[in-house]
Amino acid sequence: MNILLCGFMGCGKSSVGKKVAHLSNYKFYDTDKYIEKKEGISISEIFNLKGEPYFREQETLAVKELCQKDHVIIASGGGLVLKEENVQIIKNSGCKIVYMDVPLRALHERLKRTEKRPLLQREDRTEFINTLHAQREPIYKKVADYVLPSGMPVVPLAKNLLKLIENWE
Ligand code: S3P
Repeated sequence: MNILLCGFMGCGKSSVGKKVAHLSNYKFYDTDKYIEKKEGISISEIFNLKGEPYFREQETLAVKELCQKDHVIIASGGGLVLKEENVQIIKNSGCKIVYMDVPLRALHERLKRTEKRPLLQREDRTEFINTLHAQREPIYKKVADYVLPSGMPVVPLAKNLLKLIENWE
């Protein structure tokens, strides 16, 4: 079985995924890192040089390839499950989706100073996060097999996730 973590930027998909992999025999992948490695440039550079639509195509390719592996935990970029095609690929492969639900206030705190996220390099960051979160949250909840309350430190969170995964196995 495979697990894909989804949720808003800053919800901790990568740190929790890494920790779970460390505590188990799952292998960890991160779609952003996977794309960066393939392209040889950063996500910000891909957005700047090739545009967001190109990035979104690479995300679909990445999730297709990663879902074919076995026993992996995948941290997805915050926009990945918004594309219906990607959700179909994930579900058809038998991979479970976990939505990491972090209170909006905590997300604001975590995203205050981020410079590596191209979507947030704007003057009206606070309002933009509010709008985007309101649009995306219902979709995250809809596509998820499980909504994991995630406003807590990484170690207890990873342990909760691991318990959930063990129940599924
Ligand atoms: C994006 C989230 C980012 C990255 C890209 C776009 C999004 O990943 O994929 O900047 O649309 O929410 P994180 O969720 O890991 O920050």
